[in-house]
Amino acid sequence: MRDGINEKYIDEEKQGEALHLAEPEKEGLKKLYLESYGCQMNFADSEIVASILLKNGYTTTQQMEDADAIFINTCAIRDNAEQRVRARLKNFKPLKDKKPELVIGVLGCMAERLKKRFLDEEKLVDIVAGPDAYRDLPNLISEAESGQRSVNVFLSREETYADISPVRLDGNGISAFITIMRGCDNMCSFCVVPYTRGRERSRDMQSIIAEARDLFEKGYREVTLLGQNVDSYKWKNAGEENVISFAKLLEQVALIHPDLRVRFSTSHPKDITEEVMQVMVAHENICNYIHLPVQSGNSRILEIMNRTYDREWYLNRINMIKSYVPNIGLSTDIIAGFCSETEEEHQDTMKLMNEVVFDYAYMFIYSERPGTPASKNYADDVPEDVKSRRLQEIITLQRDHSLQRNQQDIGKTFKVLVEGYSKRSDEMFKGRNDQNKMIIFPKGNFKKGDYVNVVVKECNSATLHGEVISA
Ligand code: 5AD
Ligand code: SF4
Repeated sequence: MRDGINEKYIDEEKQGEALHLAEPEKEGLKKLYLESYGCQMNFADSEIVASILLKNGYTTTQQMEDADAIFINTCAIRDNAEQRVRARLKNFKPLKDKKPELVIGVLGCMAERLKKRFLDEEKLVDIVAGPDAYRDLPNLISEAESGQRSVNVFLSREETYADISPVRLDGNGISAFITIMRGCDNMCSFCVVPYTRGRERSRDMQSIIAEARDLFEKGYREVTLLGQNVDSYKWKNAGEENVISFAKLLEQVALIHPDLRVRFSTSHPKDITEEVMQVMVAHENICNYIHLPVQSGNSRILEIMNRTYDREWYLNRINMIKSYVPNIGLSTDIIAGFCSETEEEHQDTMKLMNEVVFDYAYMFIYSERPGTPASKNYADDVPEDVKSRRLQEIITLQRDHSLQRNQQDIGKTFKVLVEGYSKRSDEMFKGRNDQNKMIIFPKGNFKKGDYVNVVVKECNSATLHGEVISA
């Protein structure tokens, strides 16, 4: 199970991995070495960055020694995410010493947060580009090549990169992310995202549908619609009166093909609607899985976090969701040791976990982020050892819950989308069920992208193991 060290939703082994194209490196082109840290949105953004640079004379490489440009797409959500980037940059120094014309660019949330300061603090960095500045990368590179270090951290109210079709990097060829909106207007007091990714804006629905359809035609069988708060997606087609809600968009994507699985992330407890649940029930290919971050189980803490709901509201939403889909897969985010959190308030979080019994949780220690409302208004006063102990208690409880939930699946049969070989054996395949649980099973004569029915035989807290009963 992951702990507070890791960033959200992306496997730990993918953090900082060299992202590259499936096809072989092309001769005669400049070489881009690209790494991405942080959330799914950042990985999706890296695919946009690659797409822009591919059109400007670059190909990707996995060998940083060969690179003409090294770009690192960064995360700022917690201090440890930033420390990791700083440590990584040090590894590039010998390369730059050897090859002074090497262009080093820092992209994404940490670039946006630190802006020009990044150039002052990290001498080997040539380019600092925020999440809305990627179209400008070819110019920034030209400037860097002529010896000028440059920064573009302009945050846009419109940019959605709707017209840029992302190149797929390192994927399994089966599942892909589609960004449906950017930015966030929620202003949770602990969170740096509104400052690093700017105001919320939705992407043109037609471009989303076209991207999903294109993926399906290329053999993809699962898309995950991404946004900081997907429930507040809204789009108005030119000349039409009606506003298209997230529920409508979800339905349109589901209608592309029954064999295209649709997932989405992240939902917000204040905004998730019954309409979304009705659409989920009506379409078999919309996965019965919701990621609904709670952050805390105590209403006073939720209030100072500015989450705009309380414990009762959250539990009520969970009941609403379960009333539509009783066997829904549920995961959450939890922060341990937010400002002024008492022992009793921490216990409220554990009690809420006991009430809901999440399948999975992403659990973090509170990390004060400069410039956020919490950093201005509240003291980060829970001692580090207390924060760590609380996080550990939360992790232990969640592990127990994950195991409980997985044990309930033993003997049940699930439709699984084959994603590829399991980590441990070439004889075994892995794939997820509707509830987003990973199942390992003997590969038989099946192939990636097939749907198979698997009966679960055994489990641990992280994975289910089963046997295929039919395709
Ligand atoms: N400290 C710790 N965790 C945080 N998150 C966001 N900001 C912070 C912070 N300052 C967590 C929240 C959010 C997830 C993406 O990261 O749980 O849902
Ligand atoms: Fe993603 Fe938030 Fe990290 Fe930015 S700060 S990369 S939005 S998790």
